[in-house]
Amino acid sequence: MKNYLVTGVSRGLGLKITEEIVEGGDFVYGVARNSSKALDSLIEKYPSSVKFLSFDLSRVDSIKDAVFKDFIGLKTPLHGFVDNAAIAYDDIISNLNYEKLSELYKVNVFSAMVCTKYSIRNFILHNSSGSIVHISSVSAHTGYKGLAMYASTKGAIEAFSKNTAREWGIRKIRSNCVVAGFMETDMSASLPEEQKEKIFNRTSLKIPADTASVAKTVVFLLGDSSKSITGQNIFVDSGTL
Ligand SMILES: NC(=O)c1ccc[n+]([C@@H]2O[C@H](COP(=O)([O-])OP(=O)(O)OC[C@H]3O[C@@H](n4cnc5c(N)ncnc54)[C@H](OP(=O)(O)O)[C@@H]3O)[C@@H](O)[C@H]2O)c1
Repeated sequence: MKNYLVTGVSRGLGLKITEEIVEGGDFVYGVARNSSKALDSLIEKYPSSVKFLSFDLSRVDSIKDAVFKDFIGLKTPLHGFVDNAAIAYDDIISNLNYEKLSELYKVNVFSAMVCTKYSIRNFILHNSSGSIVHISSVSAHTGYKGLAMYASTKGAIEAFSKNTAREWGIRKIRSNCVVAGFMETDMSASLPEEQKEKIFNRTSLKIPADTASVAKTVVFLLGDSSKSITGQNIFVDSGTL
């Protein structure tokens, strides 16, 4: 049984990734601020495959102790880390608010980098060839009105992932990004129907990206079947043009 740290497990894509991992027989150390009915049911169904920590990842300075020491424990070997938790920030650049931007970067970028740091330390300690998967967004590649600040966090993560792969490949540690297209989750729920239509019309398939399809790609990148893949961005975006 392999152990994976997954952030943002309470709903949306993170919940789907957690389901896929535990159904495949592996273990998830899951983090989010709050649990959900769906996560509670999953834990009830697989009590020995999921452990949940209620933690706010914007408390970046506390990640080492709260997540890696107290929750996972230094004796537990990790085999991978899925950086999935993120928040949105929809606004045009001329309205940019520095406080909101700081919060955005704490959750979407700084916490992911710090979790990568301690995941790599765990991999080295336990001599495990860990796999890191970051969830990026197609908005970093295509651009959408109102998503500049959010998209910039994903651009930062993609650069970080590429460099992680280069720096740690020598220890057989891999890092990849799954670049998701627009999915029907809470994060995109506030978008008006008209804007959603516009977004889906920019895809080849004319439909949102399926969370199960994205989650299965994440699980593929975590496992040994992808052992020759590192430093890549894998697009699961309904063929966004
Ligand atoms: N939805 C899309 O269209 C879309 C498209 C491309 C990429 N993505 C990316 O896909 C990933 C998953 O997004 P989603 O659509 O599933 O989002 P979601 O439905 O809003 O879920 C976000 C998850 O992150 C957790 N989270 C948020 N802030 C947190 C914090 N400060 N500390 C700890 N956990 C936190 C949330 O739980 P709590 O609120 O309980 O903390 C929740 O479990 C994200 O990286 C997102 O950027 C999404």
